[in-house]
Amino acid sequence: MPERWSHRTDVLIVGAGLAGLYASLEAAARGARVTLVTKGSLQSSNSFMAQGGIAAAVADDDDPALHAADTLAVGRGIADPAAVEVLVRDGIRRVADLERLGVEWDRDEAGRPELAREGGHSRNRIFHAGGAATGAAIARALIVRVLADERVRVVEHAAAIGLLGGGEACAGAWVLGHDELVPVRARMTLLATGGAGALYARTTNPAGATGDGIALAQRSGARVRHMEFVQFHPTAVAAGGRAFLVSEAVRGEGAHLVSADGERFMPAEHPDAELAPRDVVTRVLQARLERGEASFLSLRHLDPDHVQGRFPSLVEGCAGLDIDLCRDPVPVAPAAHYLMGGIATDLDGATSLAGLYASGESACTGAHGANRLASNSLLECFVFAHRAVHAGLDAPTMDAPDGPAPERPLARARLPELRRRMWEDAGPVRDRDGLEGLLAWLDGQPESNPVRVATLIASAALERRESRGAHLRRDFPDLDPTLEGAEPCAAASSTT
Ligand code: SIN
Repeated sequence: MPERWSHRTDVLIVGAGLAGLYASLEAAARGARVTLVTKGSLQSSNSFMAQGGIAAAVADDDDPALHAADTLAVGRGIADPAAVEVLVRDGIRRVADLERLGVEWDRDEAGRPELAREGGHSRNRIFHAGGAATGAAIARALIVRVLADERVRVVEHAAAIGLLGGGEACAGAWVLGHDELVPVRARMTLLATGGAGALYARTTNPAGATGDGIALAQRSGARVRHMEFVQFHPTAVAAGGRAFLVSEAVRGEGAHLVSADGERFMPAEHPDAELAPRDVVTRVLQARLERGEASFLSLRHLDPDHVQGRFPSLVEGCAGLDIDLCRDPVPVAPAAHYLMGGIATDLDGATSLAGLYASGESACTGAHGANRLASNSLLECFVFAHRAVHAGLDAPTMDAPDGPAPERPLARARLPELRRRMWEDAGPVRDRDGLEGLLAWLDGQPESNPVRVATLIASAALERRESRGAHLRRDFPDLDPTLEGAEPCAAASSTT
């Protein structure tokens, strides 16, 4: 274990993506001692891969109420208006914080942050950095601060495998790393462990995105919800075996989606054409795929100098796949991208277990409903991590027993097969037979985080007998308005 390692801290943060990094700084700024644990390195989080940006209604023609209306509209009837209100209003302050913390937004010629457009947004409101390398730019700025802050102890290559607190409350976590299992006691524990895209064969997420925090919390009795809502991004490159993401911001700059004959097909599908909400574009591309029709992004009609200047990392990433982003039709297809569901929290990030908080993609505040609005994900990291830290530090301290040490995980999930089955049976299109078959297979697998999270997704998807947002059932193709506002699934309250 690193020299600075200690077994008692004020705030234990698990996960070092943007929510975890920002929460560390916020807690340290309040004078708290922070232990930040990550199973990889500080540089290996999914946040690093976030491309498009972070949405905030600051333009002269914009208003948080418009941002809220867009978020609710794409949430397809089940986004929680209170969570959305907090997201869009607090979000403006958090974006200003990021600038104070050293994040440099891309700017226009007048020196103002350049605000981009993405699908489902009625205004240009996406702040971005490094073109389409926004996550990495923010993460780097925050990491510099975290490493410089002596109140933050960073423990890399260590995983939380159980919670302290004997199932009644959370008083820290059992952390396994460097061949040691250590009980780390904390006043508050924040899970910021990200989503579960890596449970799918085609994903834009890194291999570590296996929903570990969700499994940990749910295994300890915390509620999860909306697990059926997995967002599939429509434009991941379908070449070379990799699901390299081509940001929606490219369509915001005017890129077209075209057939093999070069014909645009989105104008016939939705009034906003290529800038329709993500669930719409994904459904169109998935249906084309199932009919054997390939889809391509085309930027040929755009100024190549502008494309090169605006999206240098995408030009480079495509070049690595032998594709000239400015000239070539780019073959694209859906890939698992983001989990709307997660550990159920209130508006202060509090879970159903006292002392346990969650934020970022591992949490479900309800702000995204059935389909997240583009570039609201980075926003939620900062908004809800901020609220969680302050709520947790203001809460009375608790006494809870440690409880027994967890078993060290021995079984390794059969990930390649799990991913293939998840894609086929709990992917962009689902039905009862496929989901039941998947659940039967999962039931026969040894317990592990991936198996647990895959089971939560598949059982919630089976339970939701309708199509809504990112959840598309072949056997229930219509939206069921009676399910609006209802807690959606049996898995939401499952604690086993
Ligand atoms: C993208 O850049 O297309 C992804 C942005 C997001 O997921 O919100």
